[in-house]
Amino acid sequence: MQTILSNEFKFQLINSLNIFRNIIDPYNPKEEIIPTIKENIQANFPAEEIEKLKSNVVNEDGSGYVFIDLKELCSNYEELLIMNFILLNIIGKPLWHKENNPIWFNLKVKTDVNPIRTHGVGKNPLHMDFLTFESYPKVISFLSVRRDPLMGGGSLLCDMKKVFSKLNKRENALLKSKLFKYWIDKDIVNLGKALENFSIIENKDGNEVYRYTEKMLPHLEDGRDVLNEEGLIHKEELINIFNKIKKISEKYTLEILLEPYQTLIFNQQRIAHGRSPLGENQNNLNEDQMRLIVQTYLN
Ligand SMILES: [Fe+2]
Repeated sequence: MQTILSNEFKFQLINSLNIFRNIIDPYNPKEEIIPTIKENIQANFPAEEIEKLKSNVVNEDGSGYVFIDLKELCSNYEELLIMNFILLNIIGKPLWHKENNPIWFNLKVKTDVNPIRTHGVGKNPLHMDFLTFESYPKVISFLSVRRDPLMGGGSLLCDMKKVFSKLNKRENALLKSKLFKYWIDKDIVNLGKALENFSIIENKDGNEVYRYTEKMLPHLEDGRDVLNEEGLIHKEELINIFNKIKKISEKYTLEILLEPYQTLIFNQQRIAHGRSPLGENQNNLNEDQMRLIVQTYLN
């Protein structure tokens, strides 16, 4: 499950860290440095291994994710951030989706928000981020800084390609129709235009990509605004399909409890993600003890 890097690859990661440590602000790397990093990668890293890592994440026949441990390669948090930035540039192109914000987004635990939401303490159902944008992020990276000391908060990954392959022709056809609507996030940049209607299964350059979220199910059930007029005709059937998907996806969901300095990089147009509940009584922890994951998008 864990991706094993060759010694040569690790050596080059440390080398790059030493080159870029005085140039990159670890807390806010800038886009301008990317061409220089890419040049360094191309000149020094083993090309075959780079291809293997990339194809594992992006290609149809890959697992859809890589899971890498950077613990022995960096000795503090700032080094970790810089090394992670280099690694992300190996896999793809870092994507800034909010103007004037750093590339890093801290997934902190908050005990006073809706438990199922991004920062909540409950189970975060399987979903894909920014699925209402035409060019939604291809890849997500979760870099672990602290794991939950109460041993919850595993990262959930589910290969929706496997799940959808278990549906029948009729069910697949409905998911391929533009019947769906969903909330559109505000103040987002670089993700293309917002989609009024979309299909859950979409053909993109000969490959299937998915815009799935289990969070749609309760809205379907209580008739809230997630279907267009044509979709409403099939409402009952779609509720059944979503329930079936939920059941099948339980079988295919992988839970990874990330240790500090481990990073998980996955194809988010194919692999839905979520979070298992945090350990109970998070209120007993100080903020600096709670689970912390740094999230980043790539294209
Ligand atoms: Fe998410």
